[in-house]
Amino acid sequence: CGIVGVLGTHQVSPILVEALKRLEYRGYDSAGIATLHNGHLDRRRAVGKLVNLSDALVHEPLPGKSGIGHTRWATHGAPTVTNAHPHRAGQVAVVHNGIIENFKELRAELASHGITFVTETDTETVALLCEFNMREGSSPVEAARKTVARLDGAFALAFLFDGEEDLLVAARKGSPLAIGHGDGEMYVGSDAIALAPMTDQITYLEEGDFAVLTRQSLEITDAKGNLANREMRQIKLENTRVDKDGHKHFMAKEIAEQPVAVDTALKAYLDENDAITLPDGLDFTQIERLSLVACGTAYYACMVAKYWFETIARLPVEVDVASEFRYREPPVSPGTLALFVSQSGETADTLAALLYMRDKADVIAGLVNVPESSIARESDVVLPIHAGPEISVASTKAFTCQLTVLLLLAIKAAKAKGLPLPEGMPDDLHALPGLIHQSLASEAQIAAACRDLANARDIIFLGRGALYPLALEGALKLKELSYIHAEGYASGELKHGPIALIDESVPVIVMAPKDALFEKTISNMQEVMARGGRVVLITDADGAREAADGTADVITLPKVPDTLAPILYAIPAQQIAYFTAIAKGTDVDQPRNLAKSVTVE
Ligand code: G6P
Repeated sequence: CGIVGVLGTHQVSPILVEALKRLEYRGYDSAGIATLHNGHLDRRRAVGKLVNLSDALVHEPLPGKSGIGHTRWATHGAPTVTNAHPHRAGQVAVVHNGIIENFKELRAELASHGITFVTETDTETVALLCEFNMREGSSPVEAARKTVARLDGAFALAFLFDGEEDLLVAARKGSPLAIGHGDGEMYVGSDAIALAPMTDQITYLEEGDFAVLTRQSLEITDAKGNLANREMRQIKLENTRVDKDGHKHFMAKEIAEQPVAVDTALKAYLDENDAITLPDGLDFTQIERLSLVACGTAYYACMVAKYWFETIARLPVEVDVASEFRYREPPVSPGTLALFVSQSGETADTLAALLYMRDKADVIAGLVNVPESSIARESDVVLPIHAGPEISVASTKAFTCQLTVLLLLAIKAAKAKGLPLPEGMPDDLHALPGLIHQSLASEAQIAAACRDLANARDIIFLGRGALYPLALEGALKLKELSYIHAEGYASGELKHGPIALIDESVPVIVMAPKDALFEKTISNMQEVMARGGRVVLITDADGAREAADGTADVITLPKVPDTLAPILYAIPAQQIAYFTAIAKGTDVDQPRNLAKSVTVE
């Protein structure tokens, strides 16, 4: 979820809505704002995307110069208006990101005082507890302080109070929160990007901080209750709003941008002699192993990177999904580089995994697209991927840029160890943007194949070697966008069980460039066809010549150096998801139930 608060000198409703637009990547199940007008709290809330809230505000405007706002990714309670934030109890309104883990105990305690609930959310408990504390005689600030002290879990909160036009209270535990300083105004937001149109003067709250804001002052106390002096930083953020640039969807635009985005990423790390320059603090002569941690698409980028680091740089690599990592309590050997990959840099699971590694790994690096993000700020070394803003929920150009930077790191590591590079490297890297550009031209072929795929109930993706994670990524993208059940398998593993699923109703998408593993993958493809499976083969011209017989469709990509194949084969994986979604008429840029970055664990 995303939260924002403003103590302004103008009407705040439009300012809150604008900030929420920038936080919509954190969820779009519902949105709401509360303001104070003539000392009285009032709120507007709407289910679904922010545009529904904007519409509601046209019909029923909400005046006031102090306000809080929220965009929700539902955890406790369905996405209804009643469950939408801000939550209110009497004189208190509150917005919340995170999960209050002990809300059931607190509910029971409040119920014993005869206090009743109207929502299914954990957040309502916070509002009710604060209101209860006020009725017991506490001032608003003290009531909020006492409330926060009772909460377990990870959260960021902002409180607004009836009759208190010049007061906002904010608290952070586990979920990030930024305070913005304006000219006679003060703001709070889940990230600095939300506040960018208002200010670039930011104070980040630290773990356990409690902040009291007025238009002219900011007082922060730390977890122990002592006054804390937190640095105010001037941050550099582009305040430009991103548009679709003539494309039908952000996703289409972001797919098309990949030649330029990958080129930008390459140029950011390669000097004129093709030497790879890394930020200070990352020296591969000192690194003996890597631990790669991420979620979703970024996790699949890590899986590809494992092949590269192990084959090219001979470095052992562990790859983990972030939500599992710290509960496994992995032992960490000396010489470990812990690398956290995240487009947004705000994913709560990945951030929690990073904090687990804090005192254990030799170096903590964040490979992110948002340099001001929480993961970047918590890392010893930041490795930007330079993809530019990615708006569509399904990650496309961030994935190929993550892969590009990860490959550069593997090459740098190989060089640091004095190992020979794969044939053609690093020169072939320069061919990558052009190859991606050529590969985009398969669009029409893919769109035609997808009209058929859209009717399937289940779809299987197969790949071998470094193309195996691409099969997983292809299946994830398709699920996310078209809601069709899809699975990715290592092609050699199919015969050990999943082949039982194959019949003429299950399309099987095989990713097989004509490389050293080609014959083996094609054998697995034959096993599918022998059982009536409908195969869509993605390969190059040589591969098509050899193996097209008997397939339902062949999508031909340019010939690519083996090392670069996972980056190039990401393009058809993205296009298949995109055109299948179009054929099904689903919401391409904001699929149901998802958020671009999930900020709860
Ligand atoms: C969410 C999105 C995925 C994304 C994942 C990781 O689950 O729906 O598309 O890959 O988060 O996001 P990150 O910002 O950490 O790369």
